[in-house]
This record gives sequence, C-alpha cells and structure tokens, in this order.
Amino acid sequence: MKTTKDTTAPGDSGDVRLTGIGKTYGAFTAVHPLDLTVPEGSFFALLGASGCGKTTTLRMIAGLEEPTSGTVHLGDQDVTALPPYKRPVNTVFQSYALFPHLDIFENVAFGLRRRGIRSVKKQVEEMLELVQLGEQARKKPHQLSGGQQQRVAVARALINHPKVLLLDEPLGALDLKLRRQMQLELKRIQTEVGITFVHVTHDQEEAMTMADTVAVMNAGRVEQLGAPADLYENPRTTFVANFLGTSNFIEAEVDSASGGELVLRAGGGKLILPEARNSAPTTTGGKVLVGVRPEKISLTHADDAGGIPAGRNRITGRIAGAGFIGVSTQFVVDSPVCADFEVYVQNIDRDPRLVPGAEVVLHWNPAHTFGLDAAQDIDAGVETVEEEVA
Ligand SMILES: Nc1ncnc2c1ncn2[C@@H]1O[C@H](COP(=O)(O)OP(=O)(O)OP(=O)(O)O)[C@@H](O)[C@H]1O
Ligand SMILES: [Mg+2]
Repeated sequence: MKTTKDTTAPGDSGDVRLTGIGKTYGAFTAVHPLDLTVPEGSFFALLGASGCGKTTTLRMIAGLEEPTSGTVHLGDQDVTALPPYKRPVNTVFQSYALFPHLDIFENVAFGLRRRGIRSVKKQVEEMLELVQLGEQARKKPHQLSGGQQQRVAVARALINHPKVLLLDEPLGALDLKLRRQMQLELKRIQTEVGITFVHVTHDQEEAMTMADTVAVMNAGRVEQLGAPADLYENPRTTFVANFLGTSNFIEAEVDSASGGELVLRAGGGKLILPEARNSAPTTTGGKVLVGVRPEKISLTHADDAGGIPAGRNRITGRIAGAGFIGVSTQFVVDSPVCADFEVYVQNIDRDPRLVPGAEVVLHWNPAHTFGLDAAQDIDAGVETVEEEVA
C-alpha cells in the first residue's frame, strides 16, 4: 500500500487525496481505511445515513481528528502530521458559531485581524458582496435570518482563502424552503470562487443538487462514488439504489446472453438487461437482481396491451394503490415478480381506468434496467431513509 517516495504528478497540485485513511475508537471502526481523491476546484459531497463516518472523515481532512491509519495530502503536500491551523483548510459547521457581540463585518474580518492584517475593508466588503450581505454589514448575528447567518459563516471561512472548504451539514438547521435556496446559493459561491468544497450531508437530494461528485458512505465505507446522475442511473449496490431514491427489484435468473444483452427469466416471463448495466456475476442460471426506477415505467391498462411497442420489458400486475400528488400519480402494483412495484406516472392525460383493482401491464425500455448481485439485502438503505424522515 505505502510507497516510500511521493509519486504525485505535477499536474494534480490542488487535489485532496486520502490514502488508506481510517479511524477506530477502541474496537469500533468508524471509518474503514479508504482511498479518495477530491479533484481541485470540485464540489464534492459525502453522503450517508447518521453514524456512517462522514464527520469523522471530514475531521481527518481538517486535522481535527487523528487518523488511525493512512495519509492526507493536499496537492503535493502531506499534511497528515500538521495541526489544523497549519492546513490550508477551513470548516463551516452546522452551528455557525458566529461571535454574537461582533457585527457581521467584524465576524467576517476576524480571520484577517487575527493574522494582524489591518486594512481589511476591501476584502471584507468583497466577501460580503459574494454572499450578498453587503447591506447587512453593521447588524449583529441575531438580527439575521438563519440562511443569512449561514452565509456569514461561509464568508468568514472563505476570507482566509483556504484551498479547501469543508462543510459539515451546514444547512441542517434551516427549514426545507430555505435549505433549497441555500443549496443553490452555496453552489453559486463555489462556482464563483472556484475552490474545492467538501460537503457532508445525509440528504440525497441536497448532495445531488449541489455536487459534481458524490461519495455514498455506508457503515464507514465508501460504497460508490460518481456524478449524481451516474449514481442514480447506475447504482452498483442495493444500498445505493435505495438510498438515492426509490428502486424496484425483481429476482431473476440468467437464461442466455447474446449481442451485449442478457436474457433473464422472472415469473414465467423474460426481461432484457444490457450487459453494460449489469454488475452481478452472470453465469447461466445464476441469480440477478433486476432494478428499475419508478419513473422509467409506463402503465397500460391490460385491455390496451396490444398497443405496447415490441422490445420493451414488460410484466403484468394489478393496481393495489394509487396516490395522486399533483405532478404525478404514484401507483403501487402487485405482480407475480414483485409484491409492491412502485410506478410514477406523470399527469398528462390521466387514464380513468387506472384505479385500484385494474389489471395492468408495466413496461419500460430495457436500457433503463440495471442488474445487481442477488446476494445482497434488497432493503439495504431503505430503513435508514425512513428513520431519517420520522
Ligand atoms: N469520539 C468518539 N468515540 C467513540 N465513537 C465515536 C467517536 N466519534 C464518533 N464515533 C462513532 O463513529 C461513528 C461515525 O461517527 P460520525 O460522527 O463520523 O458519523 P456521521 O456520519 O457524521 O453521522 P451524523 O450524520 O449523525 O453526523 C458513529 O458510530 C459514532 O458513534
Ligand atoms: Mg456528522
């Protein structure tokens, strides 16, 4: 694992590189040794349920937690042994911890003043402009809204010109609407300043909205890493498939393979799975978990099944429940291959026959099917999400 010589290429001078970094507390492993590279200038999200090791990972980057194993590099520099204040890194926490007795201007100026810089006006004003608080400079923190206070905390960190800004659930204290606004706002700020942001959250929508790259963590490990759309469309584990939205799973058996496609048997019917979208072992007769997202599926009344184009994956079932939520209707369909298939149908022309009890055909483009190793728990990642909501 360890090399004696640093073989860093000159080009990657600003990346955050974690190599074999891990943390144990006694017999408990909070973070299993992991390798992770955060490209310079990117917006990177660490996403996972409570207790999975996000904060611990972030604190090891900041130097606030000593790793049990591994190294932290910022660009070419090994910072593993450096104390927090010697690292070109700043952290914004969920509790912004602004100084209540100082006004907004002085809160933002704090880092500069501490370094003995006297002419701070220009820089502080620029920072306040960046976070759109120019008008609020002389107010005290308690006179600002939660979102405004949060932006002060960001400005206060950015004025130190860190190479990397670490954000630990910075929007956690805000209500949903303000959260959504601040997500876009933080994204804009990151694009404008161009420095690396590492953002910790347990909210999958937040991670997907903001980040260029998301690392999905589960029980102290990075389960999968990728661009949001890639993770959503091509999950490689049931945990990732369930944690990022909703997935339907069908247990199927491999029948044959040809022309880059697998033919699978499920409940007496056949399903097509592009081989490129399969991450399960594919010996003939082997089991594969076939996944498909609810919004990829069309729902056709059984009487009209003749009109479904050839080449689509299809299964039959009976509508068990329907929930109208405005933009779409969410159906639960009972079928021989899956007890509660979820299907989201956009409300364009509603078919009045699609009510509970109706016989239907579910069909979708085989390209929207993904295949997972059937040896996994189908419900991994589901309960944690529900706990979060409750
Ligand atoms: N000082 C400590 N001593 C013992 N165990 C710890 C310590 N700090 C954290 N842990 C444990 O390590 C695990 C990971 O904690 P961490 O704070 O990184 O989780 P997290 O992903 O940030 O969770 P949350 O979303 O709730 O903030 C948890 O199980 C936690 O109980
Ligand atoms: Mg945490």
